[in-house]
Amino acid sequence: MKKFFNRSGKEYSSPGRNYERFTADPIDQFEKWFEDAVKHNVEMPDAMHLSTVGKEGRPSGRIVLLKGVDENGFVFFTNYESRKGRELEYNGYGALTFYWSGLHRQVRVEGDVKRIPEVESDRYFSSRPRESQLSAYASEQSRVIESREKFEEEVRFTEEKFKGVAIPRPAEWGGYRLIPFWIEFWQGRSHRLHDRIVYKLDEDNSWKMLRLYP
Ligand SMILES: Cc1cc2nc3c(=O)[nH]c(=O)nc-3n(C[C@H](O)[C@H](O)[C@H](O)COP(=O)(O)O)c2cc1C
Repeated sequence: MKKFFNRSGKEYSSPGRNYERFTADPIDQFEKWFEDAVKHNVEMPDAMHLSTVGKEGRPSGRIVLLKGVDENGFVFFTNYESRKGRELEYNGYGALTFYWSGLHRQVRVEGDVKRIPEVESDRYFSSRPRESQLSAYASEQSRVIESREKFEEEVRFTEEKFKGVAIPRPAEWGGYRLIPFWIEFWQGRSHRLHDRIVYKLDEDNSWKMLRLYP
């Protein structure tokens, strides 16, 4: 390696971002930070990195969009037969990472991942713009396609097929819910003395708070 990049080697000393009281419930805490990210115009605060692990034990990652969060977990939508879908069906665990740059904040979530009920996927699919529905219908996500033209042709074919009628949700497209058992909030602070607050789900199903060395 010729040289190390140090473009992010700055101090995290923004005023007003000192240690704050964390709520007892991590989902309340997440919602608070999410709202902060929205308020501070963080670009795509809902974009999260999803890690999965396949049969060979090799991790893979990609960005997906958070579509809902509550005490039951974090919901996103995808193709169940995509690479991530296949890995989640096989392995059942996932990890999410949010990075809210302007706020020097990261949130890491680990949990079980399960499909959401079909009626919920139907409801969300029908709320999407028709173009997104067409693309979801026509795309065999993560499979090899010979050309862009072929994909566009398949989208046109789907458009013709459903002219004047609602596009049904493809059976292989829907939501997953990541049900957390570990959530870590990282707040960048001066002199690399960052805060790391972890919520760990205990055996009695209550959240235990821990602080980690940065
Ligand atoms: C900003 C952004 C948002 C995305 N949102 C989604 C999403 O919500 N669902 C999805 O399936 N793919 C989404 N993607 C595409 C995925 O990153 C990925 O390319 C795709 O899901 C295939 O991943 P896989 O082959 O690992 O299954 C998004 C990509 C970006 C850059």
